[in-house]
Amino acid sequence: MSFDRSIKIAPSILSADFANFGQEIQAIESQGADWVHIDVMDGHFVPNLTFGPMAVKAFRPHVKTVMDVHLMIAPVDPYIDAYAEAGADVLTAHIEAGPHIHRTLQAIRAADMKAGVALNPGTPAEAVAHLLDLTDLICVMTVNPGFGGQKFIDMTSKIRSLRSMIGDRPVHIEIDGGVDPSTAPLVVEAGADVLVAGSAVFKGGSVNDPDVYGANISNIRDAANGVWA
Ligand code: DX5
Ligand code: ZN
Repeated sequence: MSFDRSIKIAPSILSADFANFGQEIQAIESQGADWVHIDVMDGHFVPNLTFGPMAVKAFRPHVKTVMDVHLMIAPVDPYIDAYAEAGADVLTAHIEAGPHIHRTLQAIRAADMKAGVALNPGTPAEAVAHLLDLTDLICVMTVNPGFGGQKFIDMTSKIRSLRSMIGDRPVHIEIDGGVDPSTAPLVVEAGADVLVAGSAVFKGGSVNDPDVYGANISNIRDAANGVWA
């Protein structure tokens, strides 16, 4: 996984057909997805339940790009090795999930994955000031985590602060929640490069009508790239 700051669209399979993940992943990748975003929820850190390591391992052979696993679970550390074994390329933990995010990020890298740290909307940019050399990705939540299809919360000032704190370090800024063609330009202009989108990618399409996914992905990408046109 090489580093660059080009715009990457990462569809969240939380909005896919839950009875057909293999084909859904193939459909979004064939339609231009750069990464595949997998939302892991535990019914404790967030009020919803999704994928354990066995499910993520079953997705792995279908993902040809980057498997981006977003843990919304607490605790994190007991599960790091299981998600490494499942084949995660990027493993992201929430800073709010426990007292020892520093140790968690070290453990994720020690398990040969890229280490991400996610910030809930109420958590300030400064919370990661002492983690910048331990992380490969900062995920800025633009909704309160737990569900797809929520309304975008404007975090552009936080994104700008993070972009300036990161400087030349090879750290991605990922935005998660309510990303669509109208909000994508705001976050990219502020400094984001990875755009997670669930409902805005999957709406109106299906594995039998995958061109709709392609059009939805292009609309987000074009809006984001338009910032620099
Ligand atoms: C929310 C998840 C998101 C979610 C985004 O807890 O982390 O990845 O799937 O969904 P949309 O794009 O519909 O807001
Ligand atoms: Zn997510």
